Amino acid sequence: MPIRDVSFHPESARLSFLNASAQTAHRSSHLQIHPDDCELLKAHSASDHASVELRLATQGLASFILVLRKNTGNARWASGLLANIREPRHLIEAVSAKSRLADLGERTSAIVHEIRQPLFTIAMANENLRLMLDTPGALKSRMQKSVARIADQVARAQNIVQRTLSYVSTNGAESQFTDLPLTLANTVEFLDSFFESDSIQVRLDIPHETAMVALEQLEVEQLFVNVLRNAADSIRKRRQAGWEGEGEIAISAKIRDDQVLCEVADNGAGLLRREASRCFERFYTTRKESGTGLGLYICEQFVAKAGGKIELSPREVGGARIEIRLPLIAGSDIVASEPD
Ligand SMILES: Nc1ncnc2c1ncn2[C@@H]1O[C@H](COP(=O)(O)OP(=O)(O)OP(=O)(O)O)[C@@H](O)[C@H]1O
Ligand SMILES: [Mg+2]
Repeated sequence: MPIRDVSFHPESARLSFLNASAQTAHRSSHLQIHPDDCELLKAHSASDHASVELRLATQGLASFILVLRKNTGNARWASGLLANIREPRHLIEAVSAKSRLADLGERTSAIVHEIRQPLFTIAMANENLRLMLDTPGALKSRMQKSVARIADQVARAQNIVQRTLSYVSTNGAESQFTDLPLTLANTVEFLDSFFESDSIQVRLDIPHETAMVALEQLEVEQLFVNVLRNAADSIRKRRQAGWEGEGEIAISAKIRDDQVLCEVADNGAGLLRREASRCFERFYTTRKESGTGLGLYICEQFVAKAGGKIELSPREVGGARIEIRLPLIAGSDIVASEPD
């Protein structure tokens, strides 16, 4: 609050002033300064301008900032400011609590988004297992595959929660390299049941060579799960509009110079070119009832982290295509990054 006609009386440790704010103009006030801070204020008796942090006698904590301007002699000043510094601290705490909440909210939304896929795969594997248990002569090896898939996806879900909460995957401290073609093939395999339930044919064309990229395995999985789920969603949307054709998703990865180029093309409902540029925005979705609009936002973050690019565009033949370019990590980099 702005103050004027300020005076300090060392003998009584009293600070007197007029309140200069509009509402309470000219009301005179007195504050009893904490004895330990009197000397500090006394030292400024002759200062033309001063800024002092002090405590009041009635409160134990340093809680005021006193700004003094224009010394008129004898520890008197024409004007000044008195601010309770506990207020800004409160404000800072409130703001930081809010931003912590917003941050937590974003992480939670990401977890909710990403965890759906392992839950779905677990539910499908569990259902397969149940059917097999009811089928006399069902192959033990097939049951074991379902059990292994459940265990795998539980671990994946736990990992997603842990990584998303701690943001380990995005702070770069623990960066890892992953063989993209191998992880892509595994991702398509664990999404089998998902495609099957949607009657979608998947074509996979990937190199046999190793192609290492600067992402963790979980991130590569999340990237393709999101892209493939979008493709399936779009095919479902086209069907809902009455289309009865065969749903198809073509996935390819090619090594070109120092990059790996991945493409996922679907024959779903497609999109307009002007919509495509907005799809990577956080919370942008055209699936109002069921989408959160986080899938491609998360994908773009992973791709950017690995130094790559991701683009979505309509296909001339209908449907959409997503292109992902990721720089390859050279063999020497991988060796160099391994612990001794
Ligand atoms: N293969 C695709 N074909 C057509 N439109 C797509 C395709 N992929 C993404 N889009 C568009 O991009 C939007 C954003 O995708 P994103 O994955 O970020 O969110 P979402 O799929 O809507 O919701 P969520 O991923 O949370 O389920 C989609 O709503 C859709 O309009
Ligand atoms: Mg999506």
